[in-house]
Amino acid sequence: MATLLKQPLKLALVQLASGVDKAANLSHARTKVLEAAKAGQSSSCSLNASTLRTARSTLPKQAPSFHALSALAAEAKSYLVGGSIPEYEPTTQKYYNTSLVFSPTGALIGKHRKTHLFDIDIPGKIRFKESETLSPGNKVTIIDLPEYGKIGLSICYDIRFPETAMIAARNGAFLLVYPGAFNMTTGPLHWSLLGRARAVDNQVYVALCSPARDLNASYHAWGHSFIANPNAEVLTEADEKEDIVYADLDNETIENTRKGIPIYTQRRFDVYPDVSAGKIRFEE
Ligand SMILES: *[C@@H]1O[C@H](CO)[C@@H](O)[C@H](O)[C@H]1NC(C)=O
Ligand SMILES: *[C@@H]1O[C@H](CO)[C@@H](O)[C@H](O)[C@H]1NC(C)=O
Ligand SMILES: *[C@@H]1O[C@H](CO)[C@@H](O)[C@H](O)[C@H]1NC(C)=O
Ligand SMILES: *[C@@H]1O[C@H](CO)[C@@H](O)[C@H](O)[C@H]1NC(C)=O
Ligand SMILES: *[C@@H]1O[C@H](CO)[C@@H](O)[C@H](O)[C@H]1NC(C)=O
Ligand SMILES: *[C@@H]1O[C@H](CO)[C@@H](O)[C@H](O)[C@H]1NC(C)=O
Repeated sequence: MATLLKQPLKLALVQLASGVDKAANLSHARTKVLEAAKAGQSSSCSLNASTLRTARSTLPKQAPSFHALSALAAEAKSYLVGGSIPEYEPTTQKYYNTSLVFSPTGALIGKHRKTHLFDIDIPGKIRFKESETLSPGNKVTIIDLPEYGKIGLSICYDIRFPETAMIAARNGAFLLVYPGAFNMTTGPLHWSLLGRARAVDNQVYVALCSPARDLNASYHAWGHSFIANPNAEVLTEADEKEDIVYADLDNETIENTRKGIPIYTQRRFDVYPDVSAGKIRFEE
């Protein structure tokens, strides 16, 4: 396999608390992302990427977030994975839950539309139907950061479906990124477990980025944004409050992990199928 990660990368996860209005939220996000980028610059590692996870927002027809995030990536001179925002597609008149990725010049270089929408309805207990307001994306998302390599991008509930992680990893991704907001039940049970599982199954880096917990809001997010290495060790983790956490990613760690536990060469696709080998719809 070709080199997965071409040069060391500094990854920052910005676990944001948001204010009452959108303008304030975005201006606060800017402050935090610039803080993360500045820390990246002073580090010995040459590079950077930030993931930003904001609180949920309503469905605007035109998202000022797009322009704000693009400008922010350019100002921070960093790759920026912008959490998830509601995206309106005028041609189909549909809304998607979308994560946008910008280059250090502010160009949009990729996006993921949440593929698995969360729908449950247990009468008398809980009812939550994302499909009432949103349409699902229909693609697996792998994004190339030219100086570094490929990342797989999915959103929240998507992490419970290991197939897309396997497809991204077997197509050369060195990192899987999941903006997400687990709640106070599923957070302690599954947040870390799922992220570390995707790391150990695929021997890649995994980053989960949550909003900070806001007890004034109706939805209480678990927080605990973290980065796991290809051996499923947690390199850095926030608690529930607003925070920025950092880790240095390098190719040697992926290589050594794969040498030590050689699942990459010992799979038995003569016994079971390779999910990454079939007909796949990619968003690249
Ligand atoms: C800003 O953040 C608050 C608190 O998390 C949230 O309730 C609100 O919806 C956000 N505003 C916008 C417009 O995104
Ligand atoms: C998009 O998904 C995230 C993570 O599940 C969630 O917090 C957010 O509320 C969703 N946005 C919309 C518009 O439903
Ligand atoms: C982030 O990466 C870009 C693209 O390689 C680089 O130009 C920029 O200087 C880096 N920024 C920081 C803060 O290290
Ligand atoms: C969190 O979500 C799960 C799954 O939908 C649900 O069963 C649980 O009641 C929720 N917990 C809280 C504290 O809202
Ligand atoms: C929650 O509400 C209280 C009372 O209005 C306020 O003082 C506090 O700053 C709020 N906390 C957050 C995180 O918004
Ligand atoms: C990076 O790691 C991959 C996976 O182990 C390996 O195939 C590749 O040769 C490595 N590249 C370099 C330059 O070490």
